[in-house]
Amino acid sequence: MSKFYITTPIYYPSDNLHIGHAYTTVVADALARYHRQQGKDVHFLTGTDEHGQKIQRRAEEAGVSPQEFVDKIVENIKELWRLLKISNDDFIRTTEPRHMRRVQQIFQRLYEQGDIYKSEYEGLYCTPCEAFWLERQLVEGKCPDCGREVEKVREESYFFRLSKYADRLMAHIEAHPEFIQPVSRKHEMINNFLRPGLDDLCISRTTFSWGIPVPFDTKHVIYVWLDALTNYITALGYPEEADDNSLFKRFWPADLHLVGKEIVRFHTIIWPIVLMALDLPLPKQVFGHGWLVLEGGKMSKSKGNVVDPVILVEKYGLDAIRYYLLREVPFGADGVYSEEALVLRVNTDLANDLGNLLHRTLSMVEKFAGGVVPTPGEYEPLDQDLISEANRAVQAVQEHMEKLEVSDALAAIFQLIGRANKYIDEAAPWSLNKQGNRERLGTVLYAMVEALRVAAVLLVPFLVETPAKIFNQLGLGSDPGASRLEEGGRWGQFPAGTKVQKGKPLFPRIEWKESADESEQPKEEPKAQAEKETEAKQEVPQITFDQFMQIDLRVAKVLVAEKIEGADKLLRLEVKIGSEERQIVAGIAQYYQPEELIGKEIVGVANLKPAKLRGHLSQGMLLAASAGDQLALVVPEKPIGDGAEVR
Ligand code: ME8
Ligand code: MG
Repeated sequence: MSKFYITTPIYYPSDNLHIGHAYTTVVADALARYHRQQGKDVHFLTGTDEHGQKIQRRAEEAGVSPQEFVDKIVENIKELWRLLKISNDDFIRTTEPRHMRRVQQIFQRLYEQGDIYKSEYEGLYCTPCEAFWLERQLVEGKCPDCGREVEKVREESYFFRLSKYADRLMAHIEAHPEFIQPVSRKHEMINNFLRPGLDDLCISRTTFSWGIPVPFDTKHVIYVWLDALTNYITALGYPEEADDNSLFKRFWPADLHLVGKEIVRFHTIIWPIVLMALDLPLPKQVFGHGWLVLEGGKMSKSKGNVVDPVILVEKYGLDAIRYYLLREVPFGADGVYSEEALVLRVNTDLANDLGNLLHRTLSMVEKFAGGVVPTPGEYEPLDQDLISEANRAVQAVQEHMEKLEVSDALAAIFQLIGRANKYIDEAAPWSLNKQGNRERLGTVLYAMVEALRVAAVLLVPFLVETPAKIFNQLGLGSDPGASRLEEGGRWGQFPAGTKVQKGKPLFPRIEWKESADESEQPKEEPKAQAEKETEAKQEVPQITFDQFMQIDLRVAKVLVAEKIEGADKLLRLEVKIGSEERQIVAGIAQYYQPEELIGKEIVGVANLKPAKLRGHLSQGMLLAASAGDQLALVVPEKPIGDGAEVR
């Protein structure tokens, strides 16, 4: 039996988790369930990353020990995954003895073979914040967190020889195009990190104590990334239990590490090098997905604008939330989270399309066939069409899921559902009933229930309550997940003679009230007559200096650039503006190749209201000069650093 090992990041239990963490975990869950449905031996790991200075400090603020602090939050996290019906096979906590002693064994081995060495770490230290900074991270020479003076300090530290393995890693990345996905992230890693060269990595600290001690030098604790990344193998028993029957033997290397884009670097540079040093195979793929952002920007605990998944599930139900998370945003790209969009999705797809299909179908089976599914006669072209659509959906779901196109997989299922609704209109069972055409009516009713059965089987990886509800109402019991997709998705298995059990609507329509702040938007002031006249005279009206100064023009560095499928003119850019990263969609695809933009400094409007272009969030606009059919980007005349103001 082939295997599939999938992981999520292990989350920091510094606070309860929000919808962004739920997003990664729900996608991982859908993938795990999909691969189980493919008949694979699946191992799905998630967990928590519990050490480090930040958590130590949060515990101090709360007046409890770090262990007590994390224990409580980890309980909430586990409860959240139970609520979302996450099907993980294991949950690893970095404070568990099984993890801690294995990390120490790994550290010891790397030290003995010379890949870890002791040296001195020189950095800029902010004492009140207990944080190290690099020169370039400072803001006007001061601590970027608190604005106070920093001092140069030297600290004894252990270092890991990243540099020694850089060439091998580069060769691996080039020989395995599937290793870093989406491909734009691969370019980003090569151009921004590997090409400029790797420094050895500082992997121990003496400035705080909440961590795993270096086994032979206990005033040091192992610094977070070595502790965190190794969870993917310690959870499988490595290095103690690497024998024939172990989980490690069965499941390593991982088939997929699913992570947010901000930690792709750790997973595709540091982690593979640790594995190379341990002489272990590398994970087959690291997929860095985009962020869910709010209309006002990134969700963050300090901004106090996090969205709590527990409340959403209570309000709308589990499958509604899972569906929205899996369907709304093309997987990989950034997307805007909005409750209004959630309601719209649920009403359109789940209540209308799917809910109505079930309701109509069962009503007609009851009305025209006494609630018993008839035996089909010969299929006509109209029926053949529906059958092809069902077969096509089964194929399409598999093709998309293999490429992690989760949203497209769901779209393919809803295409079948849409086709089935249309089939009912075209086949018109009510007319057949009137004409007394029993045989044709039987065939049509059969095709209707069978299309629904196939759709329910296809929905199994994504929705965790609905497929069983559909099966129940179809009279098929409550276990749609028992069969493999290949078998369960095959047309014609619905047993004729089954008595259907029409029940409650699957998804009642949700009423949506526009939120207060939207309806209270100020109306545009009526313009004074004189003002209007000047505007009319000059095509481009003059603006005041103050008006000009309202435009926040900044130098932005391009980190990622890629084409947008289906939009010939657009490129999707990820840019860095000082400490902030943003996505900008720009109409420059006909003038620039994505590769020539990566690493370039450009100029953009930083305070433009975000907009959606072809479904992609755009948080800014870049400046370009155009004349005739020429276009040239505006760039600083010499490198000046992203974030610099332009005026
Ligand atoms: O980084 N949109 O933990 P973390 C989408 N402990 N995904 C989001 C998100 C958002 N707005 N916010 C968070 C850590 N995520 C480390 C990881 S792994 C060895 C160690 C998801 O609690 C996304 O998967 O900050 C992101 O990578 C992860 O949560 C970060 O979780
Ligand atoms: Mg984070």
